[in-house]
Amino acid sequence: MSAWTHRHVLDLAAFSLDDYATVLELAQRFRAMPTSGARKLPALQGRLVTTLFFEPSTRTRSSFELAARRLSADVVSFTPGSSSLSKGESLLDTVRTYVAMGAELLVVRHRATAVPQQLAEALDAAGERVAVLNGGDGLHSHPSQGLLDLFTLARHFEPEAPGPQALQGRRIVIVGDVLHSRVARSNLWALTACGAEVVLCGPPTLVPDAFADFVAAPPPGQRHDPVPRRGRVQVQRDLDAALQGADAVMTLRLQQERMQQNLLSSLEGYHQRYGLSHTRLQRGGRPLPVLHPGPVNRGVEMTGGLLDDPAVALVDEQVRNGIPVRMALLYLLAAGGTQSILNPSSSRP
Ligand code: CP
Repeated sequence: MSAWTHRHVLDLAAFSLDDYATVLELAQRFRAMPTSGARKLPALQGRLVTTLFFEPSTRTRSSFELAARRLSADVVSFTPGSSSLSKGESLLDTVRTYVAMGAELLVVRHRATAVPQQLAEALDAAGERVAVLNGGDGLHSHPSQGLLDLFTLARHFEPEAPGPQALQGRRIVIVGDVLHSRVARSNLWALTACGAEVVLCGPPTLVPDAFADFVAAPPPGQRHDPVPRRGRVQVQRDLDAALQGADAVMTLRLQQERMQQNLLSSLEGYHQRYGLSHTRLQRGGRPLPVLHPGPVNRGVEMTGGLLDDPAVALVDEQVRNGIPVRMALLYLLAAGGTQSILNPSSSRP
């Protein structure tokens, strides 16, 4: 396992294959910890984690907070509605207030793209030793979700050794509202880094052809791609064709709150063409695991029967895996590497 070099976790475009291997290996160790009884690790004792969610969340926020507590951190949860933002305090001054209280790890979600990045840059420029984790920004990035999806798939394919190699050569279909999905974007970076072929499926209004080139060049501001050879990305309009030969399918929530124009004629029509059901999956002839980042629109992205079938739907497993993956991220950013957990003689937490 190689050295961890990231001060912040903002975008998986910056992750190397070693970074994915490090996170997955740590997550697998944390996943094996008991979840009842004496279940806390002292790694972050005395450290303050603050979650600042300027957009609603159930899973990401709660699992970051549980992850922090399982590492013995103190946790403060910022709620915009009851804060001094309503008195005109700026977002940066709000964040600096928590830093002044001793926050060392900030988990930030915002509806605007790049807010976590801008906060990280402002805090770095001010000389603060604070790590920023992106809890989801606009349509841009949701790195912890991309990592927990990767971990869930890797565990499904290779339960005993769920590293990046578990994805090599796999065909993963992502169907639905790719255009508005920061989850899809993070999954594209993660899955292709690990050698998976990704098939994006949906109508042109939700899956523009340009997504086939999404990982072809590093994103703005990043000089080179840290992954020398990525898996292929293709766009397929027909879901039954996309599912042929697939190893897994991830369906995405229709984000109607982000849709500026009327991009769909009807939800019924969408479900007919792009919805998942037992019947549709059986057409492919072999069992196929189904993922969804949540929250799910039942009867739209998939039938309620499929969502409630744990033999097929890995949705609850994704939620469970979110905690050890976020423990791994908090641990790596707070401890500055993996040495102490891998080397019990080290004195670092
Ligand atoms: N997947 C996800 O980000 O869920 P929440 O919005 O509930 O955090």
